[in-house]
Amino acid sequence: MWAKSLRKALSRVTTPMVRRLSARIVDESYIEVKPSQSVAPALTFPGIWLRDNCRCPACFHDSSQSRRLDWDHFDTSVRPLTLHVDADKEQLQVRWSDNHESIYEMDWLRSHSFDGDSQSSYLNDFYRPRTRHWAGALFEEVARRFEFDQVMSEDSALQQWLHALAVYGVALLNGAPLDEGVVRRLAERVGFIRRTTYGEEFIVQAKPGAQNYAYLSLPLPLHTDLPYYEYKPSVNILHCVVQTKSRGGSNLLVDAYHIADRLREEYPSDFARLSRTPVDWNDIGSEDGSEFHNIWRAPVICLDDAGEYTRINHSVPQRDSHFNVPLKQVLPWYESYARFVKMAREDAHSFKTQPGDVLTFNNLRLLHGRTGYDDTENNSRYIVGAYLDWDIIYSRLRVLKKRLGSVHTVPPTVK
Ligand code: OGA
Ligand code: ZN
Ligand code: ZN
Repeated sequence: MWAKSLRKALSRVTTPMVRRLSARIVDESYIEVKPSQSVAPALTFPGIWLRDNCRCPACFHDSSQSRRLDWDHFDTSVRPLTLHVDADKEQLQVRWSDNHESIYEMDWLRSHSFDGDSQSSYLNDFYRPRTRHWAGALFEEVARRFEFDQVMSEDSALQQWLHALAVYGVALLNGAPLDEGVVRRLAERVGFIRRTTYGEEFIVQAKPGAQNYAYLSLPLPLHTDLPYYEYKPSVNILHCVVQTKSRGGSNLLVDAYHIADRLREEYPSDFARLSRTPVDWNDIGSEDGSEFHNIWRAPVICLDDAGEYTRINHSVPQRDSHFNVPLKQVLPWYESYARFVKMAREDAHSFKTQPGDVLTFNNLRLLHGRTGYDDTENNSRYIVGAYLDWDIIYSRLRVLKKRLGSVHTVPPTVK
């Protein structure tokens, strides 16, 4: 009780003090800025970084938003000599040991802060939304549905669709017209189509003399498309124009990042093999009279230096018979691969798209497949596909976020 009233009395003494923006040089090489709001923590910036990021016209080209500083003559021993803060304008002025002077706006400093929380919110929000991995049983909760017309006409719907795709790796659009131009219009709403060996738009339909295994009415086991490309197309757009009336023709989807999470946890040696053994993926044939022979070597589970997933590769038809690994690695790799395939198949969620549905999913992350169907003259299936790349999607998302702010949707409760 006594402590509480003392605290209250003290807070009465301290709160009325209005702090002004202030700055000081620390250890000759750092600049610490104390914002004017008394609750905001001090921000510390390396001097060399501030000098490198001077915003004056000699150092920064405003209309291209690009650094123009002469780095051939950049002095890494540059030090701040004196500081001046203009509290009214919320600006910091620095005079440097190389005789240069810089002015930094407080807003700019805040948005480029080195503190851990600011950096992680920038990385997990603005750079790329953090992914959420899901088990097949949660598909209906995570798979968002959007109206095609709204996505085409409203920027906030476009943003929500792309955000859901980035976070969950899958999203559906409903109510698209049944013409072959839908996938192009949608891709061009984001940016532009990613072209492949099979063209810009491609038709998935049972075709005599098929040049691709998908162009049959056979079941299509779980796979990622085009694992034989170093630059694998990022996102599949599959527009259902005609759906088979026979049984089958359903899509299967699995979040392979979730399967990889489980392997990492439950079967670490399988995870290690699948993430370290390079596999040859290939595609040989010809399209429109032009021959191709594509090969890319990469593990099933690809990781970055921090152990985060960058890409999953899996396709039984497109796995090469060349397997360029030491003999001793082959048998154990097959056991691990079989476990991955079995776990994925058991987790797969199956659903059948209807004419006007557009299924979009991350081809670097999800495995997809199709159940077999009867293909007869008056019982056909006609899917139009195209790809988009993440560079283009993330770019559109950032442009929309700058204009509209963050996406406001309640995330489902998944890990
Ligand atoms: C493909 C494919 C899915 C489908 O063409 O690679 O996965 O629904 N098609 O036919
Ligand atoms: Zn400058
Ligand atoms: Zn496919």
